[in-house]
Amino acid sequence: MAKLYIEGGKRLTGKIKLQGAKNSALPLLAASMLVDGTTLLHNCPNLSDVSAAIRILDSLGYKCTQTGNDVFVKASMPLCDCVSPELMQEMRSSVVFLGAILARCGSATVTTPGGCELGPRPIDIHLKAIQELGFSVEENGGYICCKRVNMPKEVDITLDFASVGATENVILASCISGSTVYLHNAAKEPEIKDLADFLNKAGAKIYGAGTDTVTIIGVEKINSVEHTVIPDRIVAATYMSAAAVTGGDIEITNINCEHMRRIIASYSEMGCDIVFCENSLRIRAPEKLRRIKATRSTVYPGFPTDAGPLLVASLVKASGTSTFVETIFENRFNYIDELRRLGADIKVYNRVAIVEGVSKLNAANLCCTDLRGGAAEVVLALAADGITSIDKIHHIERGYEKIEETLSGVFANIKKE
Ligand code: EPZ
Repeated sequence: MAKLYIEGGKRLTGKIKLQGAKNSALPLLAASMLVDGTTLLHNCPNLSDVSAAIRILDSLGYKCTQTGNDVFVKASMPLCDCVSPELMQEMRSSVVFLGAILARCGSATVTTPGGCELGPRPIDIHLKAIQELGFSVEENGGYICCKRVNMPKEVDITLDFASVGATENVILASCISGSTVYLHNAAKEPEIKDLADFLNKAGAKIYGAGTDTVTIIGVEKINSVEHTVIPDRIVAATYMSAAAVTGGDIEITNINCEHMRRIIASYSEMGCDIVFCENSLRIRAPEKLRRIKATRSTVYPGFPTDAGPLLVASLVKASGTSTFVETIFENRFNYIDELRRLGADIKVYNRVAIVEGVSKLNAANLCCTDLRGGAAEVVLALAADGITSIDKIHHIERGYEKIEETLSGVFANIKKE
């Protein structure tokens, strides 16, 4: 199993071209199932989660080819309405294929996605909405079987929580149907709008994506489409943190700063000088980062839960005491034990992390706990004296395209062996 080896202490400077967003590419690949024709996605990141989504599409009879950051999907009628348990388990977000399969086949059999490092990850909100769309839902022996039983002309759905995945599943399950759906308390993350933009380009009628009420007027079919995946705002926050903890000066291009406003506010509050326009951002870190007011993760446009570990890693190097409150996932703090091995002083009380800034960190042998926690370990290792090793980097490779090459490009001492 490969590991990352990072010799900390280097000031990161230079330019990084930001990758496409994993959390947009995955629902877009599911949406390609609805297209009566071909789909060409640009700026699709080369990630293990994207490869897993492509394997699911292949298993359903869709011919996919990924060349660099382009993914071409040739549609067909799905060979079947089920995804194998092995494929479902490979990736947490495979549940987003549920809505697409239902739209195409009128039925679907998937496995209840297992828990993951962040907590149980239930899909009750997805299934309740799917029932309101006119599907029966039966769960037995770890399988979920859905079947269309009626097609309501109009349906009002209000999600109990603004779930990103549930919002995506409702849009996918209803955009080629005979129903008009009014979805309330919808997730407002940029990835939702990217999905709606893709589908509308193909001929769908989806209005209000990015607000908390999305209207989907089902159409008979949607056609071939070419689309560029939005930039990855969480990967952007990761490289901002790498600059922050090393006193660095990094320019990030191919970014969408409109998606970064809440994140930019926190790094500015820490004392970073941030200059940005629509699709580039330059961050220059101060000699010493400042503590910040208590910050809590919440739904978009609030501070994103996925950027929480990166913010906490940065605050380890800030002077004074900062507090971060995680409100979305139960086990988001698993990575903190690993940061402590480097010398971080963080106390955790349930979902509250209290970070005491330290001036010295020392290398250690770490192990990734999850995707964003692993990224936080990489960030903090960049500021630790000595050579840190990081094991189980498959977690990081789910969401970061060649992280070692990207960081080496801004003079980090990092290698994968
Ligand atoms: C998406 O996950 C992202 N994943 C997550 O990113 C991100 O953290 C999350 O949204 C929140 O922004 C992808 O887009 C592939 P949710 P998702 O449904 O859709 C609870 C990363 O690091 N919930 O908005 O699964 C759930 O347990 C990943 O890239 C229910 O209780 O998130 C969680 O506590 C991690 N029942 C909260 O809602 C449900 O039916 C947020 O979940 C659904 C969700």
